[in-house]
Amino acid sequence: MEQRIHRLRRRMEESDIGAFLVSHPVNRRYVTGFTGSSGVALITATEAILITDFRYLTQVKEQAPHMTLVQHKGPILETVAEQCRQLGVKSLAFEQDHLTFSQHQQLEGFLNGIATDPVSDIVEELRMIKDEEELSVIRDAALIADRAFYQIIQEIKPGMKEKDVALRLEILMREMGASSSSFDIIVASGLRSALPHGTASDKVLEKGDLVTMDFGAYYQGYASDITRTIMLGQPNEKQKEIYDVVLEAQKCCIAQIRPGITGREADGVARDYITKHGYGDSFGHGTGHGLGLEVHEAPRLSIHGNTVLAPGMVVTVEPGIYLPELGGVRIEDDVLITESGCEVLTHANKELIMID
Ligand code: GLY
Ligand code: MN
Ligand code: MN
Repeated sequence: MEQRIHRLRRRMEESDIGAFLVSHPVNRRYVTGFTGSSGVALITATEAILITDFRYLTQVKEQAPHMTLVQHKGPILETVAEQCRQLGVKSLAFEQDHLTFSQHQQLEGFLNGIATDPVSDIVEELRMIKDEEELSVIRDAALIADRAFYQIIQEIKPGMKEKDVALRLEILMREMGASSSSFDIIVASGLRSALPHGTASDKVLEKGDLVTMDFGAYYQGYASDITRTIMLGQPNEKQKEIYDVVLEAQKCCIAQIRPGITGREADGVARDYITKHGYGDSFGHGTGHGLGLEVHEAPRLSIHGNTVLAPGMVVTVEPGIYLPELGGVRIEDDVLITESGCEVLTHANKELIMID
């Protein structure tokens, strides 16, 4: 944790930030280690203060012993302002993407003349590069998803509802140590598999359906995110064709992922492959996203992805093809960027599995 505060201070110096209010709970957790539901961090070149309320005093001492603990009894932003005054802060940087308009107004009122400075993505950028401790937890989260998939394909059969499958996945992951799913589990079968984000419904699985399962575990605060599409019965020609195109696009993209290319270039590898095979218009989302404390975080692998990939980043690779008259296929793995290329963290079988 001290290392993270050190990196944050270096980043603050680069942007000429003397005092920084970290209010976004995920960013505050990253910087301090404190997981409680309420609290903010105030960081300067010499001070690292965590402000929270009575409920969390013991927890902070355990999780964030390196932070100076300050208890607030009135509004938390009032205590922030008091601390700023005591420290002689001239201008307070705040996370403009996370503080609401009314919170900012309230903060300005309490600061009473101390300036505020809106900044973006300061902690989010640090979070992109995972340390060894984070990678170890993400590997475990990925393993939980792999093992849940292995088990669900022993159990899944026509006649079950999509919701039954989602519930089983949830239970399996929790039995394996997950605190929860990392997002609402997607189980989309038959024509519904053409819905890229078809949350599990009451639809009954039928022979002839493609079934897309997109799920992941939250484990010790970190998310995994995997998608597999399976076939109930034998695929028809078109189902087989789109499966093969998506699988090849996904493998080609992974083969090209390495430090130095941008998120846009990585996206382009999958997109070009799918477009070359005639399905470009049916792949209407980005190829992937960063993964960590949040299931969707920087960097993006998409046409908007300007970030240059670097060792330590973890991203998903998840191309898909969606045909409303037939159904859809998506295949998603979690991938760690390494010095020389990348390492796939999810290992579940992705050749087409057919279940009678
Ligand atoms: N489950 C959402 C995603 O794969 O990004
Ligand atoms: Mn997913
Ligand atoms: Mn994803």
